[in-house]
Amino acid sequence: MNPATQNGPIGQPLDRVDGRLKVTGRATYAYEQQEMGDALYGYILGASIARGRIDEIDTHEAERTPGVLHVMTHRNAPAQAAFGPALTPTPAEVFTRARPVLASDRVRYHDEPLALVVASTFEAARAAARLIRVRYSPEQGDFDLASRLAQAYIPPRTNAGFKTDSALGDFESGFDAAPVRLDETYSSPYQSHVPMEPHASIAVWSGDELTLYTSAQTLANFRGGLANTLGIAPERVRVVSPYIGGGFGAKLIVHPDAVLAALAARVLERPVKVALTRQQMFANAGYRPAMQHRVRLAADPSGKLTALGHDVWSTTSRFEEYCEQTAVFARSLYAAPNRLTRHRLVPVDLNRGEWMRSPGEAPGMLAFESAMDELAERLGLDPIQLRIRNEPQLDPELGVPFASRNLLACMRTGAERFGWGRRNPRPGSVREGRKLIGMGMAAAIRPNYLGLSKAEVSLSPTGRVLVRLDMTDIGTGTYTILTQVAAHSLGVPMSAVQVQLGDSRFPRTAGSGGSWGAASAGSAVEAACQALKQQLVQAAGAPYQQGAVHFADGRITTAGRSERLGDLLLRMAPAGLRAEGSVGPMGEDYKQFSQHSNGAHFVEVAVDIDTGEVRLRRMLAVIGAGRILNPKTARSQILGGMAWGVGAALMEQTLLDIRHGHFVNHDLAEYLIPVNGDIAAMDVVFLEEPDPRANALGVKGLGELGVCGAGAAVANAVYNATGIRVREFPLTLDKLLPGLAALEE
Ligand code: MOS
Repeated sequence: MNPATQNGPIGQPLDRVDGRLKVTGRATYAYEQQEMGDALYGYILGASIARGRIDEIDTHEAERTPGVLHVMTHRNAPAQAAFGPALTPTPAEVFTRARPVLASDRVRYHDEPLALVVASTFEAARAAARLIRVRYSPEQGDFDLASRLAQAYIPPRTNAGFKTDSALGDFESGFDAAPVRLDETYSSPYQSHVPMEPHASIAVWSGDELTLYTSAQTLANFRGGLANTLGIAPERVRVVSPYIGGGFGAKLIVHPDAVLAALAARVLERPVKVALTRQQMFANAGYRPAMQHRVRLAADPSGKLTALGHDVWSTTSRFEEYCEQTAVFARSLYAAPNRLTRHRLVPVDLNRGEWMRSPGEAPGMLAFESAMDELAERLGLDPIQLRIRNEPQLDPELGVPFASRNLLACMRTGAERFGWGRRNPRPGSVREGRKLIGMGMAAAIRPNYLGLSKAEVSLSPTGRVLVRLDMTDIGTGTYTILTQVAAHSLGVPMSAVQVQLGDSRFPRTAGSGGSWGAASAGSAVEAACQALKQQLVQAAGAPYQQGAVHFADGRITTAGRSERLGDLLLRMAPAGLRAEGSVGPMGEDYKQFSQHSNGAHFVEVAVDIDTGEVRLRRMLAVIGAGRILNPKTARSQILGGMAWGVGAALMEQTLLDIRHGHFVNHDLAEYLIPVNGDIAAMDVVFLEEPDPRANALGVKGLGELGVCGAGAAVANAVYNATGIRVREFPLTLDKLLPGLAALEE
């Protein structure tokens, strides 16, 4: 880091630069875009069976409804690319493969779009959709996981390109020979992303050029997926997504709103907008698959792990494979000579599962870090001690050093801050009236990625800096941190910098996903600023080219000389200067080092003996994620992740009716997520440890780290409070009540 700019905006807990726009309603979300004039409204009719064939679809009455301009079904939808094989050939193609809608008379999942009604008002479109009559030949679908494990198959790889299985040493013998063993099965349910802003798109054609206003996390992939579906070149598609009301992984690929808006706008030669309703989102916009986990741990009496195994069976769509990398984290977390991780898939007649905040670790660590707690008790060891005893020197399966890893420091700092020493290890032994009090902890680990990203930065003679890239801000604070990076690097005030995101015409980035956004887009902006500073030094002439130069207070300065950037430009480049920079993809540092972020979660709960109600009293996360660009937005990311952990542990589950393949609690009245009132006190501590092997900024991913292990810490606290171990998540009251009643006898 340039010492002259050490006190710049990076690392400051600054407010969001887009905060005012958002709270005053001036941040324009996809469905609200106005610049194309009045758009027509599309409304999707979904299938009421989960598998079968459409024999007849009668749209006459719908077409005669006043205000209706068009009804699209598989019979008259424009041609689209074919769907392609269920197995996804490569990780790259998964984001951009063609996903046609209204493409045939087959029904592949419940609520799959069967028709789009387009009308001059939303109400007319919706009313007309109800007048469409459909006759089906239904077929019995398969929906259950637990009873069909024997039908599981071995996928070619997991999500993100990890190998399906890993084995080291001899797991079975190592496990059988150990004096202390644990072999338990856990289940984690379907979960839904439920971002506040639904999936929504407005399509506008101008000749052969399509502009799509939508809510997307990763514009380049979204553009590729839409172009491939429509069978046109990506260069003919522009995707605009300046503000996004939450993504959580649900907005990485193209969904039916985008495809149908594009098709209808083409047919009608008018702008068309389509949003998924909240209920439609559950089946049509991704979910986390249901899973069973078998965790096997074996240790010697001192607590050293001798065998570590995590087997996962997960549901997958029959027509499009998705294998969450649920056991992959276990390859890098603890030392053990004999190791086994495996992923198996059971096909069901549902739409595809999709990435959901911390795919892999979120459900995997829920199970595995519960098992570690169970093992600690069997060993008579403190859970932190057990983890300290199994801290690896190298990544246990990759065999390379960690680029940086401060798991032990996170656990020790957390223990001290949280008052872990006051925890009574005997479960069910701390009471306050009719409440049982308990504490739990869990470790956190999450891969640190870097994605190919470019940015452009320009400087005008008025001293204004404009930063452009096709990165998105899905609520994480991207506008703010990128403003900080540019202001810091160029030595100008925050107010001089404008960051423009969310337009596929801007330089391509890796977008928002996988917690790589800050590192990737941030490094690209930094690289562009470095290039711009080179140009400024060139422009400034000889005296500046001999010694050290620094940029601060809007000036370029070297020994005995200094000039305002604006003046320099007026003199040497009155049209302004423009530079580009890029970063990634992951290079040698990602092969020679194991790249992860780490953390530790601590939770205190009070469980009501009579009702089983679990109240969170305190939560603490201690996080090691490299250099922190903005402690305020970073903290919000971790708080959000912790809340997801509470949801996973206590309430979140999308309930599938396994007779009909229908998600029954498909709205926010019945899909329960934690709210502020559910959690009394949350705290986040960052252990800063800039990691130069991650990228030039030293930033590591943290967005998804907050949920990793957070749910297990809650479940472990409930166990410590009650002595009741629930292995079927979420841990709802009905699963605690029998045990609580027994406690009272
Ligand atoms: Mo994330 S699940 O890659 O948005």
